[in-house]
Amino acid sequence: MSRRKDYYYFRARKEGYRSRAAYKLKEIATRFDIFRGVNAVLDLCCSPGGWLQVAKEYLGDKGVVIGVDLSEIERMNGVIFIKGDIQDEKIVHEILRVTNKVDLVLSDCSPKVSGIWSLDHERQLQLARASLSIAKMLLREGGSLVLKVFQGAGYESLLDEVRLSFKKVYTTKPSASRKQSAEMYVVAKYFKGKEKP
Ligand SMILES: C[S@@+](CC[C@H](N)C(=O)[O-])C[C@H]1O[C@@H](n2cnc3c(N)ncnc32)[C@H](O)[C@@H]1O
Repeated sequence: MSRRKDYYYFRARKEGYRSRAAYKLKEIATRFDIFRGVNAVLDLCCSPGGWLQVAKEYLGDKGVVIGVDLSEIERMNGVIFIKGDIQDEKIVHEILRVTNKVDLVLSDCSPKVSGIWSLDHERQLQLARASLSIAKMLLREGGSLVLKVFQGAGYESLLDEVRLSFKKVYTTKPSASRKQSAEMYVVAKYFKGKEKP
């Protein structure tokens, strides 16, 4: 079996998820109870939409789910999609047109892989930093953030930055995350307070 077409790939196809990544969020959601009391979710780097599907399952018909990505997604009922770059500062204003009250920010960003590890790592870190900065502008006090970060240089300092803004911070590597991948997921709860856009 090829490295990319593993157990979670086939399971996602069978169960109708747009990505195997859906299982990472499902595991995180169960373990850290991140959807409790949540009415508005912002999913940064959402394409093709596995995490959006999981968010919709939790929210049902109530609340709002917003996704942002450089790449289009196939339309999804009840999801507002914004095509854009999360590193463009105008994106915050576009999201604010939809809602100014986000309870949960999700970020599963990966750059287009160049194959040069140090470059890919640095770009991923920039995407994680951009996500954290958007979360700090849009989350309500008490809200949560799930953030993918590649381990390596800069990882610890990013974690320290997250700890400054959230009361509880955990790190986890879900079973669906490939063992050889450097990715970790930071789960930050109880946001301390908003910064102005
Ligand atoms: C691993 S995929 C996300 C998978 C998604 N969580 C799911 O469950 O379907 C990473 C995404 O990051 C997006 N991305 C990378 N850089 C971006 C940027 N600057 N702004 C917005 N999206 C970006 C890519 O287009 C890609 O769709």
